[in-house]
Amino acid sequence: MRTIDLRSDTVTRPSPGMRQAMASAEVGDDVYGEDPTVNRLQERVADLLGKEAALFVSSGTQANQVGLGLLARPGDEIICDEGSHPVNFEAGALAALWGIQVRTLRGTRGLLDPAEVEAAIRPEAEHYPRTRVLEIENTHNRGGGTVYPLERVRALAEVARRRGLLVYLDGARLMNASVASGVPARAYAECATVTSICLSKGLGAPAGSVMAGPRDLMREARRLRKRLGGGMRQAGILAAAGLYALDRNVARLAEDHENARLLGAALAALPGTSLPFPVETNLVFASFRGRSAAELAARLKEVGVLCNPEGSKPDVLRFVTHLDVSRADVEEAAQRIARALA
Ligand SMILES: Cc1ncc(COP(=O)(O)O)c(C=O)c1O
Repeated sequence: MRTIDLRSDTVTRPSPGMRQAMASAEVGDDVYGEDPTVNRLQERVADLLGKEAALFVSSGTQANQVGLGLLARPGDEIICDEGSHPVNFEAGALAALWGIQVRTLRGTRGLLDPAEVEAAIRPEAEHYPRTRVLEIENTHNRGGGTVYPLERVRALAEVARRRGLLVYLDGARLMNASVASGVPARAYAECATVTSICLSKGLGAPAGSVMAGPRDLMREARRLRKRLGGGMRQAGILAAAGLYALDRNVARLAEDHENARLLGAALAALPGTSLPFPVETNLVFASFRGRSAAELAARLKEVGVLCNPEGSKPDVLRFVTHLDVSRADVEEAAQRIARALA
């Protein structure tokens, strides 16, 4: 029985073509700025996101930490959704590494409201932390793979600009947002001071994220990356996979979204099951009323379907479609899940 792995879009394995591109990559020492493939990737992403410069980093977490560490000082406050990745899934790094305080808001499926953001900005007085950064996530993972409407991001950016905040966009799945909405990634990125995209999620590369922003900030970001031990040497081998992914694996994200909708519809049709969020991209959250998500995930593992408990609610599982699962796999997974639940 073939295992169908729907735990995350991070589980993809590099395709033969991608491995070929990696094997033949021209490389140099990137800490000296001499890796031509890394430099090409950085230029490519800076252009894609309409920014002056970009920096290749090891992971989405490293991008978020370098990005937020860059924009806020110790004791500063950032505003973000309560389900945001840095708050929930980065091992307390904002506090541990940078002394950054977080003010969380309850967004709607992860999406923040401009008026609520504005109301949460601290007045200027010695009692208060300084509100420095607005952090947004697009698509929003815990919100269910939610896509930010461009108008909402623009409205948030307008509040930030007017009130002197910097904006960090966690774009780990920004290309999913762009493909789903038809909004160019650079239109979203234009609203942010610094943006990141992840190469090792839906895009299918084995590792790496790229952050982009103004040239002076990206120069400082190199220093923070170094501080985190993220200065890699012949990283062109990884950057080559990223370039390959950007060439071939962006438009096809629409297939992942279609497969996710299919899976969502099949799950929603099961007795006692409902979808807490509409399926907008490649993430499917399903609520199995009255059942333990952990026990259910273990049961589904026995029938060769891997998925993860969502974490914040006891009966919700998360399923993720990606490059290494086909429409037929998703149909098969839906059948196995139905049988396992019966
Ligand atoms: C929205 C978001 N940001 C950042 C990350 C972190 O990426 P990484 O696992 O590469 O550190 C993830 C990982 O799933 C994510 O979903």
